[in-house]
Amino acid sequence: MKIGSRLGHSRETRREAAPAPRPVRRPAGLGDALYSEIYIEVIDRLETRGALELDPQELMARVTELVAQAVEARRLALSSRQREQLVAAIGDEILGLGPLEPLLADATISDILVNAPDQIFVERGGVLEEVEVRFRDQAHLLNTINRIVARVGRRIDEASPMVDARLPDGSRFNAVVGPLAIDSPVLSIRRFIGGPVSLRELVERGTLSVGMGHYLKSAVRAKCNVLVCGGTGAGKTTLLNALSRYVSSRERVVTIEDSAELRLQQRHVVRLETRPPNLEGRGEVTIRDLVRNALRMRPDRIIIGEVRGPEVLDMVQAMNTGHEGSMTTLHANSVSDGFSRLLAMLSMSGTQLSEPMMAQLIARAIDVVVHVARAPDGRRRVSAVAEVAGVQGMSFELNEVYRAARGDAAEGSRGAWLASGQSRLLERFAAAGAPLERRWLAPAAGEGA
Ligand SMILES: Nc1ncnc2c1ncn2[C@@H]1O[C@H](COP(=O)(O)OP(=O)(O)OP(=O)(O)O)[C@@H](O)[C@H]1O
Ligand SMILES: [Mg+2]
Repeated sequence: MKIGSRLGHSRETRREAAPAPRPVRRPAGLGDALYSEIYIEVIDRLETRGALELDPQELMARVTELVAQAVEARRLALSSRQREQLVAAIGDEILGLGPLEPLLADATISDILVNAPDQIFVERGGVLEEVEVRFRDQAHLLNTINRIVARVGRRIDEASPMVDARLPDGSRFNAVVGPLAIDSPVLSIRRFIGGPVSLRELVERGTLSVGMGHYLKSAVRAKCNVLVCGGTGAGKTTLLNALSRYVSSRERVVTIEDSAELRLQQRHVVRLETRPPNLEGRGEVTIRDLVRNALRMRPDRIIIGEVRGPEVLDMVQAMNTGHEGSMTTLHANSVSDGFSRLLAMLSMSGTQLSEPMMAQLIARAIDVVVHVARAPDGRRRVSAVAEVAGVQGMSFELNEVYRAARGDAAEGSRGAWLASGQSRLLERFAAAGAPLERRWLAPAAGEGA
């Protein structure tokens, strides 16, 4: 394949593609039109010289040479800095993720969301904003997607138009192309900037109070089964990661995820990741397969990145049978919605249990539920921590230990939580050598503790 077509502008598409590429790293003082003129000239020459066989370093040397020639031919007065920028921008197009490179280089960006060639959003500090970066056209975007996907050893096309993968730097990458994506190929990248966040840092960010932090620490140490629920991007995985630090390094942990996001610090951790089916539709390994297999691996704890299907049956069974201290996340809008979702997933898992039996299984499996929510200003806040006390028929009896006070936590009063003062787990915490001081449960402990 020729470089030009890899880049999404073979001669044919280039002719139609009216607006030129607008790289953000285009050197200052060089107009868009001039940039793309040079860019296309460089690409054309690379193509005719069979530059695809070159390794990246040689290719960049060639680009530098061709840029110099193009600049000379036009008698442009560019500084050496401007030339370097020009070479870097063209290099990004050929070797890297093109227009996305500058966004990836920006450490304050946590999400990159491409809806269309000319519609790109990023998330910074929890807030979404549209950026000026553009792909030339859909073909350019599609080629960038193809390049990323090929690099991680997967493929995307009409036959399998969706890919969810982990990039070499640990970022989570998702792309959908036609016919599933109707208007344009789309892609999203969730990055993990700055490594895992600690509970202390979450307290500093106003996500939870000191008291709640102590409570959750005790719960993890005492091997309670913990469910973290919340909406999309609410910070469930981040919180789960923070909690996982308190797992004893003497325990054997198996983590199971669709794309590995958990960063456990302990040595004795086995990480498993699912696999999508191949082109013939074979070879798929699901979360459920992995949970079942994990049970044969003598785990002390199983941590499932997110439950969203029939694996919930195997998970609650494991939690009920000696794999205490297991943790997972679940997409749900509230604590009670979380239980409804667990029940719904359980009833679709092929079990013959009656509904009240399923409710009992869940109530016995889960000890503590934490709900995280994302405020409109981008802040994340734990809105409730509840213990499961039991179940009556189909209704779960919850003991709410902490609850976010009404009002906006963002308005100065960070950490405005109310504590009920009651926990049924204090003895268990103490017996496990992880006692919780009563003051962290005192109603006042919620106040900005
Ligand atoms: N407490 C927090 N304060 C501020 N930002 C946070 C917090 N927790 C997470 N984030 C940011 O929010 C984004 C989503 O975090 P995370 O992956 O933990 O959410 P999630 O609920 O697991 O999302 P998903 O529904 O996609 O699985 C990340 O960019 C992360 O850096
Ligand atoms: Mg998550």
